[in-house]
Amino acid sequence: MTAYASFEDFIAGSSAPDGLKAVLTTLAATCADISRVVAGGALAGALGASGSVNVQDEEQKKLDVMTNDMLTQALSACPLVAGVASEEMDFVQPTTNAPADGYVVLFDPLDGSSNIDINAPVGTIFSVLPSPASPVEADFLQTGRNQVAAGYGLYGAQSMLILTIGEGVVGFTLAADGRWLLTHPEIRVSADTKEFAINMSNRRHWAEPVRRYVDACLAGKTGARGKDFNMRWVAAMVADVHRILIRGGVFLYPWDAREPERPGKLRLMYEGNPMALLIEQAGGKATTDGVQPILDVIPSALHQRVAVALGSANEVDQIAAA
Ligand code: F6P
Ligand code: MN
Repeated sequence: MTAYASFEDFIAGSSAPDGLKAVLTTLAATCADISRVVAGGALAGALGASGSVNVQDEEQKKLDVMTNDMLTQALSACPLVAGVASEEMDFVQPTTNAPADGYVVLFDPLDGSSNIDINAPVGTIFSVLPSPASPVEADFLQTGRNQVAAGYGLYGAQSMLILTIGEGVVGFTLAADGRWLLTHPEIRVSADTKEFAINMSNRRHWAEPVRRYVDACLAGKTGARGKDFNMRWVAAMVADVHRILIRGGVFLYPWDAREPERPGKLRLMYEGNPMALLIEQAGGKATTDGVQPILDVIPSALHQRVAVALGSANEVDQIAAA
């Protein structure tokens, strides 16, 4: 049997500073805890609505609230964490007594939560930024390029933890004994693909270039692209991005005319930036429109939205050219 390195071994041997190692160890342990609650489903009292709405006016599921509390508590107890921010909380939460060289952690505690009740994949997305002691909201509003680590826990057929500390992308699988084991030591996104992911039901609301790009994919072998494409949509960004990291593809959640004042549906700080760092670190491209890197977007609000077009580099270039 193959002997896999543990998460602890990987972290110990990495170039991450000790403080960051402690933060990542807390995140890994909490993702393993969340995986158990998710897997418990009805038995863990984890299904259904919580009866509340979040800052974005979205109905919260019980698991959105439970996982948000688990991450907030665990990270706030970590001495190097100066503050947390979450898709599910109105305001940033600074912690007390963190040193001046600490970190803030921003997270989407349970991405794809409409999948919970139907037993489809969900995940936890996280982004780690450097922070002064006692950070205020402005200290969280750093560009994605400043991230010192990003990753996600994916609770699917297997539970996995995907991580970058700016030295490529690695993946761990949760073993039966509760340890994360390094099963994917070097994740790379293929440059080319024949697979795209977009919510096709919104086609009539898209801008013309997005429609042109997708229509060219749909035209297949006899169209301008000269090849047949496949389509996938899990309705959990974490699972769609995971598929792209493993076998290539592109994922789009573009601006659309339903809410024209919003750049897109997904959140820059909790979804766009961490996924963009993973994709770039794996050799792919992560943009708003095929051209502008998500990591260069200057944030102006904690819960701001962003258009997303990411994945296999040559295919993202096709989106730009459409
Ligand atoms: O977090 C937002 C999210 O659930 C993403 O995980 C997912 O990609 C997207 O929304 C699904 O959107 P829609 O409901 O339009 O398919
Ligand atoms: Mn989400």
